[in-house]
Amino acid sequence: MLRYWTAGESHGKTLIALVDGFPAGVTIDTDVIDVELKRRQGGYGRGGRQRIETDKVDVRTGVWHGMTLGSPIALEVVNRDYKLERLDDLPRPRPGHGDLTGAIKFLGSIRGILERASARETAVRVAAGALAKQLLSAFDITVFGYVTEVGGEEIKPVEGTLDELRAIRDKSELYGLNLERDPAIKALIDRAGKDGDTLGGIIEVRVDGVPFGLGTHAQWDRKLDGRLAQAVMAVQAIKGVEIGMGFEAARRPGSQVHDPIHYDASKKETSSLGYTRPTNNAGGLEAGMTNGQPIVIRAAKKPISTLAKPLESINLDTKEPEEASYERSDVCAISAASVIVENVVAFEVACAVVDKFGGDNLPEMLGRYELFLKMARDR
Ligand SMILES: Cc1cc2nc3c(=O)[nH]c(=O)nc-3n(C[C@H](O)[C@H](O)[C@H](O)COP(=O)(O)O)c2cc1C
Repeated sequence: MLRYWTAGESHGKTLIALVDGFPAGVTIDTDVIDVELKRRQGGYGRGGRQRIETDKVDVRTGVWHGMTLGSPIALEVVNRDYKLERLDDLPRPRPGHGDLTGAIKFLGSIRGILERASARETAVRVAAGALAKQLLSAFDITVFGYVTEVGGEEIKPVEGTLDELRAIRDKSELYGLNLERDPAIKALIDRAGKDGDTLGGIIEVRVDGVPFGLGTHAQWDRKLDGRLAQAVMAVQAIKGVEIGMGFEAARRPGSQVHDPIHYDASKKETSSLGYTRPTNNAGGLEAGMTNGQPIVIRAAKKPISTLAKPLESINLDTKEPEEASYERSDVCAISAASVIVENVVAFEVACAVVDKFGGDNLPEMLGRYELFLKMARDR
């Protein structure tokens, strides 16, 4: 069973992800993880924190001569902006944060809540996901995330191969797939910033090369659609998750929703085993299992809760109405969120791969994978 936990505060000494159950025999390239960490720090509309940090992963345990040992892997990203001991509490809770509820629940400070609730923690979630991608790449599974909407404005993806789309995304300051839209969207973010306001958006993640049968229909907590939704929804500020056609499926008759099943023997050697679907409205998942089509998952991110023009709040000491506190903040973090969502999806798919093909070591997993493909083709 592959899983991970994280530890660390936003302005604490360090951030840690402890990855348990990662198979032995996977070659790890830390530069690949660092590229993802850098992408998480980027995107148009970020605040001052990203100019202070230059995130790099330090693999502290579980890897020897660049290869995983099958033992727990501790990933560390050190905070340059360590100043927690010098920071004061916030007197006035910010609407949209855990400030008020956390301070009441734990009978303590707002600082103690916001330091852990902050999305800074996602640096090590990204590191864990980027580690998982290196396992997935042995199975030719790719995970690709991009931004499709900012503040209600669509960035309609252009068509192209995965490599072409990746090149476009990596050129875009918004991590979208239509460079012509970037100037207008950047102007929208600038305007929001000038108005002391913030913007959210929508992210799409596509997983290609997925074999049949990851996840299971047999028990609710092992359904892969449910596992993915939980992982994505647990990213800070994500307020909605859709798989495939998502909410739109509820508005259409079944004949316009469900994907017919065809067979094309020339595609027998691919991960689809030759079963083709003219549409992929199911987003690659039926009954909690992958169906040989790409997984498509979307996430809605709310606007950043800390506003430079603060909302109404209450001073927790006096109970008098006052403006919410302000902490240095992003205006729009949808691009960074797309990197986080991409990587938490990657981790969850890797968990499902380990569940299906066994998790002791990669060569054995690959052997079982090939055997499964052969038996499934003969089915
Ligand atoms: C990449 C990313 C960056 C974020 N940056 C900020 C920020 O600068 N200021 C802020 O108030 N909230 C920021 N957030 C959102 C908060 O972390 C989040 O809204 C808060 O912890 C409350 O959790 P919830 O929105 O999931 O309910 C960011 C979220 C993400 C995903």
